[in-house]
Amino acid sequence: MKKTILLLSLLVLSCKSNEKLLVPTGLVTNKAMVVSARSEASEIGVAIMKKGGNAFDAMVATELALAVSYPQAGNIGGGGFMVFRKANGDTGALDYREKAPLAATKDMFLDQNGNVIPGKSTATAFASGVPGTLAGMFAVHKKFGSLPINKILEPVIALAKKGVVVTENQEKSLSTYREVLLKENGPNSLFSKVYKVGDTIKYPALAATLERIATNGRSEFYNGETAQKLISFLKGKGGSMTLEDLEKYDSKWRTPITFSYKDLEITSMSPPSSGGICLDQIMKMIEPFDLSTFGHNGTKSIQVITEAERRAYADRNSFLGDPDFVKLPVKELLDSIYIQKRMSNFSFDKASKSSDIGKGKIPGYESKETTHYSIVDADGNAVSVTTTLNDHYGSKIYCDELGFFLNNQMDDFSAKPGVPNLYGLTGTEANSIAPGKRMLSSMTPTIVEKGKKLFMVVGTPGGSTIITSVLQTILNVYEYKMSMQEAVNAPRFHHQWLPDEITFEPNSFDKKTLEELKNKGYKINENNKEIIGQVDAILILSDGKLEGGADKRADNSAKGF
Ligand code: DON
Repeated sequence: MKKTILLLSLLVLSCKSNEKLLVPTGLVTNKAMVVSARSEASEIGVAIMKKGGNAFDAMVATELALAVSYPQAGNIGGGGFMVFRKANGDTGALDYREKAPLAATKDMFLDQNGNVIPGKSTATAFASGVPGTLAGMFAVHKKFGSLPINKILEPVIALAKKGVVVTENQEKSLSTYREVLLKENGPNSLFSKVYKVGDTIKYPALAATLERIATNGRSEFYNGETAQKLISFLKGKGGSMTLEDLEKYDSKWRTPITFSYKDLEITSMSPPSSGGICLDQIMKMIEPFDLSTFGHNGTKSIQVITEAERRAYADRNSFLGDPDFVKLPVKELLDSIYIQKRMSNFSFDKASKSSDIGKGKIPGYESKETTHYSIVDADGNAVSVTTTLNDHYGSKIYCDELGFFLNNQMDDFSAKPGVPNLYGLTGTEANSIAPGKRMLSSMTPTIVEKGKKLFMVVGTPGGSTIITSVLQTILNVYEYKMSMQEAVNAPRFHHQWLPDEITFEPNSFDKKTLEELKNKGYKINENNKEIIGQVDAILILSDGKLEGGADKRADNSAKGF
């Protein structure tokens, strides 16, 4: 009894001292906040809430404002996932992921010898899945919206007409991709021009498309003038998407993945994203270890997290795909005894080998550019949304007449078992191409509760590194007592089973730690040019205020009131 009381008081004391340590360093607001990849989009989302709109109205506004201000990922030619938590505690998820066109076939990216044709799944008209973004926005608006759609679109259309100022990051991004954009779209296309910091890019064609959508609603994109123009544009590029594909597209409300980690309750995206299942597996595998004692980015912390990631990604690549097409062993993969067993061969002395790990034994089972935004409104409704064209500027194919890029999401399917995609991820039959099927994703929009109250809204782009970046952001706050902004800024690392290496953000990790890991048999990759994640998150502070974490790695921005 005495022991229990002592333990309890120690717990209370340590909780208290932890809370004290948590001094916010990001933007703090009283009521509402949007954190997104561009200040223009965050501002528009906030303006909608100031006009009386809720987090769902703000979602539609922010998503479409990103389509204007962040064209490399913000989109109406792509798709995404949303996880929500209403002020009353109800949670849910929306899948507006692209689908394979009806003419798609399992071997469509293979040559006569069965080899993957380089570039066909990433930079051709065949690379695009049927876009889901507008179906998603209208589904959210229908279920939860409070302002009329044309009122929500008003500031977005105004932004497209007025134009967006090029930042240093955007200049860099556009110049990196200029040659391929030029090759794909010819010299007169909007993005074939040279833009410098401070230039304003205006989007009259996109403004006109959005105006028609504001007037005619969802059907404008899926069987109206926009649909017809889009299909004839893609036909001209040799693609096979048809009007029937657009007409048949629909977004889907899904039951999210929910699980606990110590005293946190986590809600994240369910299949066809692997995000929630992987996050659940990883967090359950690391739960028994005392990460806070091991220290942030300490050798032992990196080992435990890496080994859990290795095992979860092996299962991801082996078992997961679109639940509407394949029977997924979700219950089996999330079974606590199974998860415990997966870590039973882990040792602090020596790295496991991915070649020895493989997929887990499931009883009875046969068988790069994205963007994330987080929103909390004044009533406490929260949405966590990740949306994407897949790669930077998607397939690079820009429809000048309609004013948007097309995704290259078909590359997220497994074109051939074992052959890695853009993100080095491999797959199996579960994620093979079929007409109308959704490709497996890593997007992990996530909401965390503590003591039945909203605690954190978090997510990120980053392809395969999405899951591990979301994981580290949650751990940084919860285990390592960082503020929201510090948690987002902190250097990140990543392991995805194959290739068997840990990727570190360059020049950010302690050399001695890296040396220790090398000596234990880990392969260290510090040469990755891509950043690992670009997190946008909101933390609910103990006094009920909100702290934003807008990733310093790019132009991300927190706004609120
Ligand atoms: O759905 C997925 O997992 C990928 N299409 C996401 C791509 C991505 O995050 C690119 N961002 N840097």
